[in-house]
Amino acid sequence: MTQLSQESKHKITMTLNGREQSGYAEPRMLLSDYLRQEMALQGVHVACEHGVCGACTVRINGKAVRSCLTFAVQADGANVETAEGLASSEGELNDLQKAFRKHHGLQCGFCTPGILMSVEAYLEVNPKPNEEEVRDMLSGHLCRCTGYTGMVRAVLDVVEQRNGG
Ligand code: FES
Ligand code: FES
Repeated sequence: MTQLSQESKHKITMTLNGREQSGYAEPRMLLSDYLRQEMALQGVHVACEHGVCGACTVRINGKAVRSCLTFAVQADGANVETAEGLASSEGELNDLQKAFRKHHGLQCGFCTPGILMSVEAYLEVNPKPNEEEVRDMLSGHLCRCTGYTGMVRAVLDVVEQRNGG
């Protein structure tokens, strides 16, 4: 039985936060479980497990994706980014993370990694959103702590910084 399940695993190689990494997953294994269990990236949070809350959001080839709705084998060969890759290798937070800290954009922090990945992907496509657009974008994520106000301030602060303000 053990041998059978070993044989049913597929080798997966992806660029994960800038480094090529390989592992094995059964075809039905979710990307969220693969990243947490096989790659030890516990910043990928799992809550609803059916695509609603956004806690598990990572970037695949630049796009924000619910990793609980993605099979690990689908990310074979892809460029995958998680919140662990946002800070520098020396551990310095990036500008978005600093803004979340400054504006109290998080409390328990459970929703935060997924939101950061969505915001990063969003700002690449829409680098100068207004407040209404930021609120609309954040509505794709469930946060039960903050009331969203601090997050909106944080994103708008980064938008200003990144646009030379
Ligand atoms: S855990 Fe994936 S969207 Fe909620
Ligand atoms: S900070 Fe607690 S769920 Fe968002």
